[in-house]
This record gives sequence, C-alpha cells and structure tokens, in this order.
Amino acid sequence: MKPVMLVQATPVILRKITLKTAYFQREIAMKPSSATAQANPNIAFIKYWGNRNNALRLPDNGSISMNLDGLFTRTTVSFQPSLPFDELIINGREIVGRGLERVSYILDLVREKAGIKMNAEVMSENNFPAGAGIASSAAAFAALALASSKAAGLELSEQELSVLARRGSGSASRSIPAGFVEWQMGQNEADSYAFSIAPADHWDLVDCVAIVSSSHKKTGSTEGHAIAGTSPLQKARVADAPRRLDACRDAILKKDFEAFANIIEHDSDMMHSVMMTSIPPLMYWQSTTVEIFHQVRQWRAGGLPVGYTVDAGPNVHVLCLGETAKEVEKRLRELPGVGNVLVAGVGGEAKLV
Ligand code: PMV
Repeated sequence: MKPVMLVQATPVILRKITLKTAYFQREIAMKPSSATAQANPNIAFIKYWGNRNNALRLPDNGSISMNLDGLFTRTTVSFQPSLPFDELIINGREIVGRGLERVSYILDLVREKAGIKMNAEVMSENNFPAGAGIASSAAAFAALALASSKAAGLELSEQELSVLARRGSGSASRSIPAGFVEWQMGQNEADSYAFSIAPADHWDLVDCVAIVSSSHKKTGSTEGHAIAGTSPLQKARVADAPRRLDACRDAILKKDFEAFANIIEHDSDMMHSVMMTSIPPLMYWQSTTVEIFHQVRQWRAGGLPVGYTVDAGPNVHVLCLGETAKEVEKRLRELPGVGNVLVAGVGGEAKLV
C-alpha cells in the first residue's frame, strides 16, 4: 500500500472505524447478560448504628462481624434490552415500591460504572425464613452487588464490591469478604469498606439464634440509623468505639472466649441503650429477650462459654463454641418463649455460582 494513499484515506477510514466501534459498543451494551451470586448474612459483634452520611451510608463507627455459614441469599441479575423497567422477584413474589427502589439504586450505580442503559430482572431467594432475626438485607445487597456488577461486565475488586454493597445496606459491606470481618468507617465514600480479619476456619464459633418473635419489625434499620443521633448516648457510644473494636478484634485473633463474650454483650447493650433513648424511642427487646440475657450470663458463670448479642429485633444471637453448640441449642429450646433456634457456623465470602 502506498503511503500517500493511506494519508489521503485516513480521515474517511477513521470515521468508518469510529462509527463501527460505536455500533459494536452499542451492540455489546444491548446484549442480554446475566450472573448469579450467593452471599451469607452476618452477625455484628461490634455494631454499626448511625450514619455520618445517611445517603452514602457512611457509618458513625467501624464494626466487626462474622458471616453465617449455611444461610444464604442467591440472586440472579439479568440485564435485558427488552425490559421497560427493573423487576424484582424475591422468593417467587414480585416486589414493588421501596424494596424495588433500593435495588434499582444499586443497579443505577452499576449501569453508570459500566456505561449501559438496560433494565434488569433480579430474582432472589433466601434459604432462611424471613423474620428469623437474621438481617436478610446484608446477604441480599452483597449478592446483588456481585451478581449485577458481573452481569454488567465489570470486574470489581473485593474492596469495590464492599463499597457497592454498602450503598444498599451498611451491614452488606461485611457480607462480601470471608469469615471474621471488619468494616472500617473510612474517611470517604471509597475507603469505607470491609475486609477479612481472620478466615472462616480461624475459630470454631457458632451462632445459635433464639427466635423469640418472627413478626416483622416496626422500625427498620434505615429509619433507626437516621434517629441514632437524637440519643444523647450516641456520642459516647461512638467515641468509645475504637476501644471496643480493639477489644473484639483482639479476642477473636487470640480466640479468647471470655473476653469475646464480655465485649459483644457490652457493645450490644450499648447500641440498645441508644435505641431506647432515641426520639422516638426504639424498644426492640421483649420479655423473653431479657430472660435469655439472664440465662446466658448464668450459664457462663457456670462454666459454659456463651455470650449474647441482639440486632434491631427481639431475637437473641447466642454465640458459643462448636463443641458445645448442641448443648446451647438444647438449653435455648427449653426456655419458655423461644419458638425456634437456628444454628450457623462461620461462613465464607460472597461468590459467583
Ligand atoms: O445494614 P443495616 O442498615 O440493616 O443496619 C444493621 C444494623 C444492625 O444490624 C443493628 C447492626 C449491624 O452492625 O449489623
């Protein structure tokens, strides 16, 4: 080919190439594509309660949790050019309203990052009962972040996935990494993410969840976070968080159960003190909840390694060691007011299936 020809033809060829590339890009962006991901819920040992930025879900304090093995949400996201709007189906039921809005919010973030415009069908299933005292939103938004970003052709790092999941539900940031997990509050949007502090097989801890009530909670955590600052106790709780985080991290790394039980109960009681003194007040405990606290402390004093923690509901998470899990489950089932007991060990990271 003569060089002079090339020079003359360049603008035309370039224009053709540009048009072709744009055409192919549009083609790719319009192709249906789907992915399925699975994530465990988690139980917080040092709680997240209150945001310094509610819209971005930037927390007032860092938190520590463990993933709950055997319990999971599995979510398939498929972007389809023919869909006029996003669709959400949970356990076979179509969801509209606020639930769909929260999912579309995450899909919008993904669409923006990937440069695509297609709507998506989101099909999600939990293998644990709703209202079981296990925050389904953590597993749900972790699975959604992974499935939707993958379906959109993005390859996000664990850190980026944790940030994306956080935008849907703060605690979901902790369901992305494996095992024992810490969510650092961070300075800004990009560095408020969770990471693993120990793998799932580091310590054989078991969560026995005593179900006191399975009715839906009246005030969800999103509304709860928004009023945390109305309690005069929140400032003190937040100021003391670094001490509790250090104590809990240390206890986990050293597998010191006594220290672990003391700090998780202390932290849970502090969060509920804030809840009860918010305006309006939030009282999640029932009489059976308090009865279980007394029992757990008595059992511990009697030599059984157990400790409790409670999320935004009345059900009590009783942490113990694998070797005594059967005994703890049996004792909990014998208590009046306990309807059921779910048992979960330490779970792994969110994964594609
Ligand atoms: O992630 P959210 O908005 O559902 O808030 C979770 C709040 C608690 O479960 C009470 C504490 C926690 O750290 O998981």
